[in-house]
Amino acid sequence: MSDGPLSGKLALVTGASRGIGRAVADRLYAAGAHVVRLARSLTDGSTERRTDLRCDVTDPAAVDRAAARVLAELGVPDVVVNNAGTFFIKRIEETSLEEFTRTLAVNLTGPFLVVRAFVPHLVQRGAGHLVTIGSVSDHVAYSGSTAYAASKYGLRGMHEVLRQDLSRTGVRTTLVSPGPVDTPIWDPVDPDSKPGFTKRSAMLQAEDIAAAVLYAVTQAPRVDVTEIRLMPTVYTARG
Ligand SMILES: NC(=O)c1ccc[n+]([C@@H]2O[C@H](COP(=O)([O-])OP(=O)(O)OC[C@H]3O[C@@H](n4cnc5c(N)ncnc54)[C@H](OP(=O)(O)O)[C@@H]3O)[C@@H](O)[C@H]2O)c1
Repeated sequence: MSDGPLSGKLALVTGASRGIGRAVADRLYAAGAHVVRLARSLTDGSTERRTDLRCDVTDPAAVDRAAARVLAELGVPDVVVNNAGTFFIKRIEETSLEEFTRTLAVNLTGPFLVVRAFVPHLVQRGAGHLVTIGSVSDHVAYSGSTAYAASKYGLRGMHEVLRQDLSRTGVRTTLVSPGPVDTPIWDPVDPDSKPGFTKRSAMLQAEDIAAAVLYAVTQAPRVDVTEIRLMPTVYTARG
């Protein structure tokens, strides 16, 4: 067992195969937690303090299977990070129904399914921490981000209700809302080639978000860090 601040704790991170999720998983692992990583491209496997599960968070049966396996083999997680997400920029008239529903499925239904699977166990234990990776797009409107904004504003709404519903249970909830972070999510957009976008070199790094998550989940039990907003120090209004 390690001697970090999360020693003996169990953490689960969705969308942990790359980008912010992978950085969060690495940071929680470095702090001593046993870390369960979920993503579609991961292969099932376990080593000491690391468990990978292949899971599409939009598939209710797959989420329930993954949750049942975690609960049976590792126990009730202390930290659950809903991070898996997808992003594109298109005006509403160019957005297909499939693109819209897919964005809601990954960014909103996925966290719903994950929280639903674990929250009764966290409440029964009277402790635990639900971390939601939102976005600056959960409170600021960016032109062309119709589907993404719908999903992230919705996710913030779900976080607010959860926070209220869980306020007497000992379960904590934190919404982490970053501005642009240099991860593969930006590859199709190629912001460096487009005027008005924050250049990738000026963006936040995935490790910055991981540090915010670690801060939230390592406070004294009496402290509920309800929301953390992070922006690059130098950025353009477009994101
Ligand atoms: N990068 C930014 O500028 C930024 C800013 C604010 C908020 N965010 C949010 O941060 C989160 C992570 O974004 P990122 O930038 O790290 O993106 P990323 O590099 O594209 O990584 C996305 C992660 O989500 C996983 N994922 C996607 N669809 C999934 C599904 N159906 N089931 C399970 N896992 C799925 C991917 O793994 P697989 O493909 O292996 O499934 C991958 O691990 C997202 O919620 C995003 O909205 C990002």
